[in-house]
Amino acid sequence: MKTNAYCPMPFVTLTVNPGGTISRCMMSLENMGPLSAGTYSNEKFQALRQNMLDGKWDEQGCNSCFRAENNGHRSQRLKWLDREEKYLEETGIYNSNLSVIENNIYHLYMNFNNICNFKCRMCGPHFSNAWVPDYKKLTDNNDLSIPKKPLQAKQQVDVDKFFADFGKKLSNLRQIWITGGEPFMDDAIYRFFEKLKDYSDLSKIKVVINTNASKVDVNRLPSLFEVKSLLLNISVDSTGDLYKYMRGYNYSFEELDKKIRQIAKLKHTHSNFEISVNGAYQVYNILDIEKFYDWGAEVTGTPDGTLIEYRVLGGPQWLRARNAPNEIKSQANSMINKLMKRYPSNSYLEDCMKEIKSSRVDNDIEMFLKWNTSLDNIRQEKLIHIFPELMQGYEKNE
Ligand SMILES: C[S@@+](CC[C@H](N)C(=O)[O-])C[C@H]1O[C@@H](n2cnc3c(N)ncnc32)[C@H](O)[C@@H]1O
Ligand code: SF4
Repeated sequence: MKTNAYCPMPFVTLTVNPGGTISRCMMSLENMGPLSAGTYSNEKFQALRQNMLDGKWDEQGCNSCFRAENNGHRSQRLKWLDREEKYLEETGIYNSNLSVIENNIYHLYMNFNNICNFKCRMCGPHFSNAWVPDYKKLTDNNDLSIPKKPLQAKQQVDVDKFFADFGKKLSNLRQIWITGGEPFMDDAIYRFFEKLKDYSDLSKIKVVINTNASKVDVNRLPSLFEVKSLLLNISVDSTGDLYKYMRGYNYSFEELDKKIRQIAKLKHTHSNFEISVNGAYQVYNILDIEKFYDWGAEVTGTPDGTLIEYRVLGGPQWLRARNAPNEIKSQANSMINKLMKRYPSNSYLEDCMKEIKSSRVDNDIEMFLKWNTSLDNIRQEKLIHIFPELMQGYEKNE
């Protein structure tokens, strides 16, 4: 086997997309077929696996990793390859699951729906049906030239059908990652784990759930604690009024903070339960990062910030932090330097610094100003009320 294009994901992982289809991995949205047992061994999957073993890249379908590696970055593919033991707690699994037709499933990446009550500015209609009306208005605005992509109807995985199709293939499961849509919009997640007991040994499975937390029922959550470990990774992005502005729902930062503290109390009685908080670093929260880290360290009870995940936003391009006015970028630079000293073991700050040091892109700035004004008008909000320094910096054309 050549390893220059081989990725273990399409061999040992099942990835269920928010739109109710299967894709090759969590980095790719390319549709490999409907959510049914036959798709996992269909011609498209077989060709992909064979090409990977032969060292041939699918540049389109594996675009995210292909681009990363071509730009000299460590792709997710390379991380999976290097970290088999950390990821699956055993080595040799990759090497014994190289069939192009079908292998054991060790990791399930599960999206129950594309339904969400939030409409976060950097997210979109693929993940959140609440985004759909705003997206339609933005694409109707000819000034923005956003291509009109077909919008998906609301999708919801049928849990019973899922187990009828895949249940027997899940006996080796080690990891489940759940995102969405919002996984706690209804009780599918609870029904899913109840049924999973019939097919897998829950005590061997580590689970991570990404959630906006607004719909988490603190009294019901412990019914999920039969698994080996559960990490609730709560998406927050920013503090104060900026939180509500960025995440687009009538839910304040104070309400979220209160909910997180209630959830965190469960850690005292359940040692296999943990919470983390996450954000995507971008132009909106470029100067909120210090408040976020200090709050995140406190609320997760980790003074070294190890349970803060602050990834750099990949897209849309016009929301990237690199496009902020120079004066704001220089303040962000000092802030991140300070945070690196305060949280030396947090691995995300280095990438945030790289983002700040990247050059601005004029076209992106132009697009940001048009797009944001248009979205502000649709949502009847004003960024200048939330983050005046940013807008003033752009007005001064720094
Ligand atoms: C699509 S959400 C679905 C799960 C859940 N609704 C939530 O917000 O956590 C999964 C994660 O993607 C993040 N996200 C959304 N849009 C993003 C973007 N453009 N770039 C990077 N992360 C993004 C969210 O903040 C969240 O942490
Ligand atoms: S809460 Fe999650 S799925 Fe919903 S809009 Fe925000 S990022 Fe997207």
